[in-house]
Amino acid sequence: MKRASLIIVLALLLVSFLYSLVLGLGFGQGMRGSPHDFSLANWNPDKEMCRVCHVPHDHVLATQRYTNGLLWNHGVSSASYTMYSSSWSPTIEGQQSAQPDGTAKLCLGCHDGTAAIDTFDKYAGGSWHMDDENPIFIIPGFSDGANLDMRGTHPISIRFPSGQVGDGKNFKDINTVTWTSGDTVASTLDNGKVQCSTCHDVHDQETVPGTRLLRSPQTVADGGSPSQLCLTCHIK
Ligand code: HEC
Ligand code: HEC
Ligand code: HEC
Ligand code: HEC
Repeated sequence: MKRASLIIVLALLLVSFLYSLVLGLGFGQGMRGSPHDFSLANWNPDKEMCRVCHVPHDHVLATQRYTNGLLWNHGVSSASYTMYSSSWSPTIEGQQSAQPDGTAKLCLGCHDGTAAIDTFDKYAGGSWHMDDENPIFIIPGFSDGANLDMRGTHPISIRFPSGQVGDGKNFKDINTVTWTSGDTVASTLDNGKVQCSTCHDVHDQETVPGTRLLRSPQTVADGGSPSQLCLTCHIK
């Protein structure tokens, strides 16, 4: 390779490296090496990455995990939850599911701490829970009698209140506002509902430690503006 072209190649590599630093939080860099890459975990005998959560053909167990959608291959929680609903907060106007549903069910299958992280595929699992990994990752962190208490977590499995999206007062136009990846907020809703995966990207890396796989930064130090994530949706 001629020296001039080598310099150009090196310059391009440097630019793309700096660009990835600027982009900061991960944002579509893929899940290899991310908090959800369990390919090195002791409890994952095949050392595959996707298989902990998705399987191409579900015929191993009689439990039909695929009925949770998205070729799901992981145990889900049977816990019941006290929701952040209009009976708890009268100012809530969006239509809310009675219990967490859709993709929130999938996250809670590990994160509510009741189902074991290693309950997947044909491996019996059942011995490694979220509190073994790190209790801070248990969502929700509290219980309300027999129920897990979602009232300390931003509402999930909830639709935007009708007539308030893009009204200039309450919520921005979710069809046009975007996360740092450039995806619109609308494209990260699940059947029209805000879920865990609306704010977090389960398939992404966390290149700035402590940014919790958020789809947009929350601070200037992380490359955004103060509470940028919240202000992507709320007008305040
Ligand atoms: C820790 C669990 C987990 C792992 C590991 C995982 N996924 Fe997912 N995946 C999810 C969840 C939860 C959803 C639904 C929420 C969402 O879409 O963000 C999902 C959604 C998807 C979807 C549909 C929606 C979309 O984002 O396109 C595809 C396709 C997908 N995953 C592919 C993969 C592939 C390929 C891998 C391996 C490289 C993988 N996933 C690894 C949990 C996981
Ligand atoms: C197969 C089990 C599993 C599923 C399913 C799963 N997670 Fe996780 N998640 C984990 C584990 C284990 C950790 C802790 C990883 C570690 O120790 O660094 C984690 C970490 C996280 C973190 C913190 C990352 C950090 O290091 O700050 C967030 C945020 C998160 N998960 C969100 C989600 C969301 C949102 C979903 C669903 C879209 C989801 N997870 C689905 C197992 C899971
Ligand atoms: C409205 C956006 C939003 C939604 C919806 C949301 N989170 Fe988070 N989550 C955050 C933010 C912001 C943080 C960073 C910690 C903080 O600011 O307290 C976080 C932190 C976390 C953490 C790291 C542990 C901690 O407490 O700091 C985990 C794990 C997590 N979320 C999982 C989930 C799961 C599972 C769901 C669905 C049940 C969910 N999140 C729904 C915004 C959200
Ligand atoms: C994806 C869009 C979105 C993001 C991002 C988001 N929210 Fe929300 N938020 C909603 C929706 C939708 C509701 C339900 C509103 C309703 O039903 O009236 C809600 C409800 C709330 C409520 C409850 C209001 C009540 O009346 O009880 C608070 C407080 C709140 N959000 C604060 C935050 C904060 C703080 C952040 C950032 C950490 C945040 N939100 C991020 C969409 C979002």
